[in-house]
Amino acid sequence: MKEKIAVITGATSGIGKETAKALAFEGMKLVLPVRNMAKGEALQKELHELTGNGNIALHECDLSSMDSIRAFAGDYNEKYDRLDVLVNNAGVWEMKRSETKDGIEKTFGVNHLAPFLLTNLLLGKLKASAPSRIISVSSMAHIMGKIRFDDLEGKRRWNWMGSYAQSKLANLFFTRELARKLEGTGVVANCLHPGIVATHLFDKMPKFLHGPMRLVMIPPKEGAQTAVFLATAPEALKFSGEYFANKKIRKTSAYTFNPEVAGKLWKVSRQYTGL
Ligand SMILES: NC(=O)c1ccc[n+]([C@@H]2O[C@H](COP(=O)([O-])OP(=O)(O)OC[C@H]3O[C@@H](n4cnc5c(N)ncnc54)[C@H](OP(=O)(O)O)[C@@H]3O)[C@@H](O)[C@H]2O)c1
Repeated sequence: MKEKIAVITGATSGIGKETAKALAFEGMKLVLPVRNMAKGEALQKELHELTGNGNIALHECDLSSMDSIRAFAGDYNEKYDRLDVLVNNAGVWEMKRSETKDGIEKTFGVNHLAPFLLTNLLLGKLKASAPSRIISVSSMAHIMGKIRFDDLEGKRRWNWMGSYAQSKLANLFFTRELARKLEGTGVVANCLHPGIVATHLFDKMPKFLHGPMRLVMIPPKEGAQTAVFLATAPEALKFSGEYFANKKIRKTSAYTFNPEVAGKLWKVSRQYTGL
């Protein structure tokens, strides 16, 4: 793993932090786009002390700004000559409708459009480093979602569950379509449900839900297991376009295989991101 490079979004907390820890232990070079540099520096120090891996670089990147994503990807493509693992992990769960710096509904923007744009901008390096891997942290919550092409940003009707579920369903459609486009390149794309994990994701949720949820939550280290498996296991390179949980492929509904929805979402996402 020594010469391999991994980019992990959202490494400053929760599942992303544990994924970064595990890949640092493997001896991979980590390049971490973070929105809060002070948090990033604390993480870099912690990972170095814990794993002995001093090969951890930080880049400022706010995933709620397409300019910021483009600046990071541009920097990356200039500085580094390969990319072996991209983990699209960062995500938000908003309780009130809000917008990204680009004026796009935040859950859709940060959870779907940001990884869509970042992945596409880094695809050249991933292809040049094949066999390589793209891992997107989706969620079981996708089951409750629908891609609402007539109101993707919830401008007419928005609720916290629907917007989050749609964004996690979009991660699944993105993975399937990406895998199809990458056939034969040696780059695999898979997504996963990490479990219900004790992280900061639920901080904004109504307090009365915290108690019952705590009963079923697993620690972040456990929640990172499937992402780490997909990022490191040799056998994980055999799969692409799949949805995993507990390191195993899980079945999803017929709707998630609908090529028209996947194709349309890809097209709309290209328009949004100007790709
Ligand atoms: N926890 C669960 O039970 C669960 C279940 C299913 C799926 N997931 C998915 O797992 C992923 C990781 O979430 P988590 O549970 O580990 O939550 P978390 O502890 O809240 O971590 C979220 C990470 O995303 C980063 N982030 C958020 N907005 C960003 C932005 N605009 N720019 C850059 N970074 C940003 C955060 O950075 P800061 O540190 O700066 O805030 C943090 O590092 C998410 O995609 C989530 O949907 C989680």
